[in-house]
Amino acid sequence: MEDLRVWYHTPQGPVKAVDGVSFGLLKDERLGLVGESGSGKSTIALALMRLIRPPGKIEGGAIDLDGVNLLTVGDEAMRRLRLAAIALVAQGAMNSLNPVVRVREQIVDAMRDHGEKLSKQAANARVASLLDQVGLKPEVADRFPHELSGGMKQRVCIAIAICLRPKVILADEPTSALDVVVQRQVMDTLGRVQEQLGASVVLVGHDMGLMAQFADRLGVMYAGRLAEVSPVREIFADPLHPYTKLLIASLPSIEEKGRLNGIPGLPPSLLNPPGGCAFHPRCPFAMPRCAVEDPRLQEVRPNRWVACHLFDPDQPRPTDLTQVNGSTHAPGLIGAPDSDGPTGLAGPTGTTGTTGTTEA
Ligand SMILES: Nc1ncnc2c1ncn2[C@@H]1O[C@H](COP(=O)(O)OP(=O)(O)OP(=O)(O)O)[C@@H](O)[C@H]1O
Ligand SMILES: [Mg+2]
Repeated sequence: MEDLRVWYHTPQGPVKAVDGVSFGLLKDERLGLVGESGSGKSTIALALMRLIRPPGKIEGGAIDLDGVNLLTVGDEAMRRLRLAAIALVAQGAMNSLNPVVRVREQIVDAMRDHGEKLSKQAANARVASLLDQVGLKPEVADRFPHELSGGMKQRVCIAIAICLRPKVILADEPTSALDVVVQRQVMDTLGRVQEQLGASVVLVGHDMGLMAQFADRLGVMYAGRLAEVSPVREIFADPLHPYTKLLIASLPSIEEKGRLNGIPGLPPSLLNPPGGCAFHPRCPFAMPRCAVEDPRLQEVRPNRWVACHLFDPDQPRPTDLTQVNGSTHAPGLIGAPDSDGPTGLAGPTGTTGTTGTTEA
């Protein structure tokens, strides 16, 4: 994905839901996308399927899937690519199953609708095998969705998504609204089918624990942009972007009891986003240029991409971090940038015990 921009044209003005997002996805890779509600994650997933509907509009960018630009291919070609090359388990997908149509018909419909010509017998065999792949018994084919549990429904949705063996599976919060045991089953199912197909997965979600277990790399969205994209282990051990640092620091820990640390302030309105870096009003390290200049996503260490002026090569290190921004968040949440990285501003190596660095 290169510089994707998707706006929703509302009577109040354009909502820049996705505003210049670029990332790559390798074969077999599992990329997680996290970010606060409204940060544009589902919009990215829908744009990847070219399913943005008015008042939404893809304003620009390119999405290259094995040499095909998904944003410029014809409508019919795109229709054929859906499910066959790229498939989506949409947010709330289990509620989109038709309650009065049996599971078998819904799966067969999806296959036929996307060009598969199947005899009745072949279709039944395919349905049974797909259900088996997602850990459901063949009898489920004869049930109506309202006769299934949430986890079963979600697995039916995964079965539909993989029915034509796509190269890319997009899963938008596939386990929200499920209890943790079923959540686990659904994630295991998704992981297993991904391995069987040799597909790549983009997993959208809020649950950092789930991301830590599932994803290889994590993209952190903020206000329609990627703040950071890094391998998942590194992002947890050493988050670089101030927003990522605060996000990781806000996670409850099983070892340490204490108050939960939230991120102060609110996500910005996408109708009228703040100038410069959208995170600057909440950022404890904000500098004057952050209010006026957009930071570019750049690779600041191998495979670690960050959009933050603290990492600009020409950026002098802030000398007095007590002056930055008059931040109101609790001290000790995050450390001051130190000088151990290639840019000299690679961020702290530890996230606890550095009290006082950000007090106003
Ligand atoms: N049809 C629409 N009309 C106007 N604005 C929209 C529409 N759909 C989404 N938006 C806006 O676009 C922004 C991004 O929405 P999106 O659904 O992509 O967020 P998200 O990151 O998936 O959030 P969540 O975590 O709650 O699912 C939000 O500000 C939302 O209000
Ligand atoms: Mg969403």
